Amino acid sequence: DTAAPAQYKPEMRKQPMGNFISPSRKTNGIGIQAEDTRICVVMVGLPARGKSLIAQKVVRYLHWLSIKAKTFNVGQYRRTATPNPNAAFFDTTNPEGERLRRAAAEAAVNDMVKWFHSGEGLIAILDATNSTKGRRAWIRDRCDAEGIETLFVESKCDDEDLIMSNILEVKTTSPDYVGQDPEEAAQDFRNRIRNYEKVYQTIDEDESDLTYVKLIDVGQHVIINRIQDYLQSRVVYYLMNLHIKPRAIWLSRHGESNYNLSGKIGGDADISTRGEAYARALPGLVKQMAGDRQLTVWTSTLKRTIQTARFLTFEKLEWKALDELDSGVCDGLTYAEIATQYPEDFAQRDEDKYNYRYLGGESYRDVVIRLEPIIMELERSENILIVTHQAILRCIYAYFMNVPQERSPWMEVPLHTLIKLTPRAYSTQEERLKADIPAVSTFRAKGSQAVHQEGTG
Ligand code: ATP
Ligand code: F6P
Repeated sequence: DTAAPAQYKPEMRKQPMGNFISPSRKTNGIGIQAEDTRICVVMVGLPARGKSLIAQKVVRYLHWLSIKAKTFNVGQYRRTATPNPNAAFFDTTNPEGERLRRAAAEAAVNDMVKWFHSGEGLIAILDATNSTKGRRAWIRDRCDAEGIETLFVESKCDDEDLIMSNILEVKTTSPDYVGQDPEEAAQDFRNRIRNYEKVYQTIDEDESDLTYVKLIDVGQHVIINRIQDYLQSRVVYYLMNLHIKPRAIWLSRHGESNYNLSGKIGGDADISTRGEAYARALPGLVKQMAGDRQLTVWTSTLKRTIQTARFLTFEKLEWKALDELDSGVCDGLTYAEIATQYPEDFAQRDEDKYNYRYLGGESYRDVVIRLEPIIMELERSENILIVTHQAILRCIYAYFMNVPQERSPWMEVPLHTLIKLTPRAYSTQEERLKADIPAVSTFRAKGSQAVHQEGTG
């Protein structure tokens, strides 16, 4: 029986205990009362220690969790006055260099304070070397005076080969060296680091009153001091899971299911004959994209993903957290049936698909919360292939590709297509491989009641 329960009225959705919840000022995306906590994450470390990369990943992770965050990069402020400095600019005995660097740091901190005061921002990241005790004390005093907590994050690494490869990977193409010979740029950057090394002070016992985390040798060794609250511990836990070994993530929806064929949503249907053909083709597709790499396969607990993965010879793991978005009372209906039986809900979902929660079911926002352990585990792991469902895949994809919430639930993720995501410094590279096996399209555009139509396969 798919009719609405007798006691259900669409307006219930707007009640405080109802189903349509958008985050209030004091509730962040993970459903935690954040009170008025505002945190400045202060990056610390010599150049080319991954600070900007860490800052950018933290912001992407927080945005995915609906926590408003922003990076303030002192280098960008410095570039307005000094776009192409050479190493001598960073010599602390150079008074003009010192003055301009100090001015850049002040401008960044001022803007950060304004940003906190003007809006809903919870976490700012101050991305600079902040490599002396004096600079850190100054930042802390500024933040204390504004009621902003500080969390210092030091990245410490003395592996010369790694630093050199970091320089070649990201620094020779930095705007600081635009138009310059890469070899000369690399040499100049090494000299810049030497200048910083002359004055660099690692966080030590003199600063034991600071809240900090020290990531040594890319997180092989982690020191944590005075973490004060839940939000800080979440950030620290995320940082502890990061690694930079080369790896990729492969994503696939299950093969076409019998529910896909009849246009029904949800359920636990078997795969169709064409879905079965995709399951048989999948090992070949994976071989084409991943070569001889040893992968681990994660599926949901629903039959269609397990059936799709069954010809893969890798180790497999089933996750309840990867089950499709729960469509509650609409489970087993077609979009046209939902539009007829629950017209107001249908319209509300189109209006705000990310936040709309099915009666007795879930929203995309809910799914993101239950996927957080998956993301954390993905960050820790190396080569994972995930066989899962349309909504789940959209949320995982949104995390890696930084897709905003208004857009992520509307993304097209076709059946019978293998996606490879390769995290690189500052971005994620994407490749898609389409199997030559037709399938219906389960995509429904805003405002449409589309029946699932024959796709191109
Ligand atoms: P700068 O002070 O010049 O801005 P930075 O410390 O911000 O430098 P990034 O630009 O973030 O350095 O450097 C990115 C490089 O650092 C990438 O090649 C990345 O693989 C590497 N990397 C990431 N995390 C770490 C880490 N914890 N330790 C050392 N290198 C890292
Ligand atoms: O040298 C790396 C860099 O990111 C520069 O681009 C920037 O000017 C500087 O660090 C910011 O840090 P500091 O606080 O040491 O000036």
